[in-house]
Amino acid sequence: MYKKKPFFIVFEGVEGCGKSYQSKKLFNKLKQKKIDTILTREPGGTKSSELIRNLILKDYFKKKKLEKFDKYTDTLLYLAARNEHVKNKIKPALIQKKVVICDRFVDSTLAYQVYGKKVDIKFINNIHNKILRGIKPNIVFILKVSTKSSKNRLKKRRTKNRYDNFAQSFYTKAQKAFIKLAKRKKNYFILDSSENDNTVEEKIFNIVKKQLNI
Ligand code: TMP
Repeated sequence: MYKKKPFFIVFEGVEGCGKSYQSKKLFNKLKQKKIDTILTREPGGTKSSELIRNLILKDYFKKKKLEKFDKYTDTLLYLAARNEHVKNKIKPALIQKKVVICDRFVDSTLAYQVYGKKVDIKFINNIHNKILRGIKPNIVFILKVSTKSSKNRLKKRRTKNRYDNFAQSFYTKAQKAFIKLAKRKKNYFILDSSENDNTVEEKIFNIVKKQLNI
């Protein structure tokens, strides 16, 4: 029997790993079971955080280095968006004992800014201590993907994305970082989502069902 409780699920992985697809699938399945669930994303999720998201993503298409945000400005923008998001959406939903599904969270900052761009982790941890307001994911799904299938998926997207502006090695590094972050953590699940079948979707739902007791 399902008993309402705050439950926070995060999907992480590099571009084209299928995390947005999988988070939507899980959201729909929980809705079908009449479980009070919200689906959100980072950077973004609230009006103000989506404004910050636009600023960040636009910057990736600037060609001249001098016009681009410094990596600390970039990091602060991700963290600013997170602050708004946690305060105004995630935390209130968890207080109301909802299930929150979030497409990217803290581990994206560790994988991209710390491992990828060498931003000082102490700087990020300090800010996280203030802004996370004690929330921690109950489950983190790390979706692993082969270079070939992520490239294929990204080619099909209508909107241009950062993938076009970054070297493949950046993503390989970020994926390795995600896997490293998951090591020895009981609530992290690494799933290979390179194939386009529904096995990953089923695995995810089984893990969630077990933990929610449904
Ligand atoms: P998305 O397109 O998967 O929603 O993510 C937007 C981009 O933001 C993606 O390239 C990863 C990046 N990102 C970071 O670099 N650090 C972060 O903390 C977050 C949340 C996202």
